[in-house]
Amino acid sequence: MSSVKSFKLYIDGEWIESSSGKTFTSDNPAKPEQILGVFQEGDKEDADRAVDAAENALQEWSQTPAPKRGLILLRAAELLRESKETLAREMTMEMGKVLPESRGEVQEAIDITEYMAGEGRRLLGNTTPSELRKKFAMTIRTPIGVCGLVTPWNFPMAIPAWKIMTALICGNTVVFKPSSDTPLCATRIVETLEKAGLPKGVLNMVTGPGDAVGMTLVRHQKVRAISFTGHRDTGAHILREAGLKRVSLEMGGKNGIIIMDDANLNLALDGVIWGGFGTTGQRCTAASRVIIHERIKEKFEAMLVNRIKKLKIGDGLEPDTDIGPLINKAAQEKSAKYAEIGKNEGAKLQVGGEIPAKNGFFFEPTLFTECSIDMRIAQEEIFGPIVAIIPVRNFDDAIEAINSVEYGLSSAIYTKEVNNAFEAITRIEAGLTYINSSTIGSEVHLPFGGIKHTGIGAREGGIRGIDEFSEVKTVYVDYSGKLQRAQIDLA
Ligand code: UN1
Repeated sequence: MSSVKSFKLYIDGEWIESSSGKTFTSDNPAKPEQILGVFQEGDKEDADRAVDAAENALQEWSQTPAPKRGLILLRAAELLRESKETLAREMTMEMGKVLPESRGEVQEAIDITEYMAGEGRRLLGNTTPSELRKKFAMTIRTPIGVCGLVTPWNFPMAIPAWKIMTALICGNTVVFKPSSDTPLCATRIVETLEKAGLPKGVLNMVTGPGDAVGMTLVRHQKVRAISFTGHRDTGAHILREAGLKRVSLEMGGKNGIIIMDDANLNLALDGVIWGGFGTTGQRCTAASRVIIHERIKEKFEAMLVNRIKKLKIGDGLEPDTDIGPLINKAAQEKSAKYAEIGKNEGAKLQVGGEIPAKNGFFFEPTLFTECSIDMRIAQEEIFGPIVAIIPVRNFDDAIEAINSVEYGLSSAIYTKEVNNAFEAITRIEAGLTYINSSTIGSEVHLPFGGIKHTGIGAREGGIRGIDEFSEVKTVYVDYSGKLQRAQIDLA
């Protein structure tokens, strides 16, 4: 243990130990014996101190011209770019995703940081005519205040970056509570912003358990907004506990790909493999259901089984690995449990379904066919490499099937028929619909988020991300020199 590096909480510009002195470790899910670092187990006291620091820093930061805030973000983006390869390797070690995906994720963090740096020179409001003479009407954006950001492990840099960079450019100050599975990636983002010149107290990080740290932020009177990405049940709990503050939630999915009988099957095959098994199925946007036209079902299933059998499970740092481990033992057990559930409810296990005889939290890429829409494996978010194929007779049945779940994040359809494509765009209940590509691949300048049990209206990324982290103030300037009453003095 002596060679293992120790990391700290970041409060008011200082790296400090937790008030209780307790710590926890972060390991490599491909080699659980490899400890990546010792981290501070923060608690309520630490979270309270972090909120105080954020509140003290708010006045100065919110008054700093937004273009100047943007310059700090621009510098942070440069620093992330310089260390992209190191950060990607660390991410693979801490979270398990294969190296090319980790590189992609660091790139996503760079992209949002650059985008939000540019927003420092926009943060646009609107001007519009007043109904009265010599009166000017406009809107401006103002910060919300102290924001509590609670983030998951599956995108341990991109999702924190979506939230942190957006909150900061809008002039808010932040207390960041990352997942306890990926505190190293979280620490790297904070170190980067510190190095880029962010003033003390503007961003604070408290690692530690959700109950003690996250819920302190959620309930705190001085925290004006909570932004959370994670499990639906936690999101629902947050909503109940938050009181009068702004809450945005992104809570997973049970995303489907529709494959029509006119689809390019090779293209669809690539999409299902990428959507279903990329990041070992641990994406909110993972394609865990394939809704397929019965006319091409047999052919496509044979193609898919063949491809799945060739996928190589292993350490994400190895160049020939296709599928890395799951994040931890509980996740591995959850996938095993759902494989059993699938078998018991009568779905046909075509391939996979087992924990391989291998060190690390691996699970075989698994395919069930002959699933019906009401089966648990076709309804519940598994967050593992398990895909359920649901056969349908026609387009209307496909739409019914894809909409049959409680979630509504991402969706896709493979078809050459333009009318079906447009029908799908309007009829699928989801925040994202892809035509002839898989359910994953959002870009940072477009809104990301979902409907139904996935979210309650917020969108991250792009201008809608700015909406999430700013207030809108309406301003009237009357330069007539007399009292003009709206709705009354209309002459
Ligand atoms: C998530 O799974 O929570 O489009 C985020 C994608 C990624 C983001 C996913 N850019 O899949």
